[in-house]
Amino acid sequence: MKVVVIQGPNLNMLGIRDQNIYGPMKLEEIHSQMKDFATQSGLEIEFFQSNLEGEMVDKLQECYGDADGIIINAAAYTHTSIAIRDAIAAVNMPTIEVHISNINRREEFRKENMIAPACTSSIVGFGPFGYHMAMVGMLQILSEMKASQEAQKAQKAPKAAASAK
Ligand code: DQA
Repeated sequence: MKVVVIQGPNLNMLGIRDQNIYGPMKLEEIHSQMKDFATQSGLEIEFFQSNLEGEMVDKLQECYGDADGIIINAAAYTHTSIAIRDAIAAVNMPTIEVHISNINRREEFRKENMIAPACTSSIVGFGPFGYHMAMVGMLQILSEMKASQEAQKAQKAPKAAASAK
């Protein structure tokens, strides 16, 4: 099972930008903790950061057929990007959005969320720990999906055997 983590504009500046809002942790440190969790949980994980909307759309499209789940912080594009929302809907797989800060308690324009309706779930306001919560949530979603696929297969199997007679 593979999870792709997509980080939007200015998240490469974590640890430098607005430390009073986002804290002192750098993106590399967040990713290294996520990687440790993924290794412990038997998940493959890939990280991608871009400051460009089109590159994020390209990466989301690449997930189709390659990944089983997506964790995304679209950063400022959260509030504006119909293209990212459409790409998330198009690839149609478990997608968890993370926001380090509580976007609902900040400026009015941050309350507009274009991408949340296309996501399975949103985690906001837990700081960098939100990424860990997203990993735990993703693991749960993927294991439930696997269990239900196996149950469906097991249901179909006796019918197939019967029709082969
Ligand atoms: C953010 C919130 C956005 O409003 C902002 O533009 C970001 C980071 C967050 O993680 O809290 O860049 O997505």
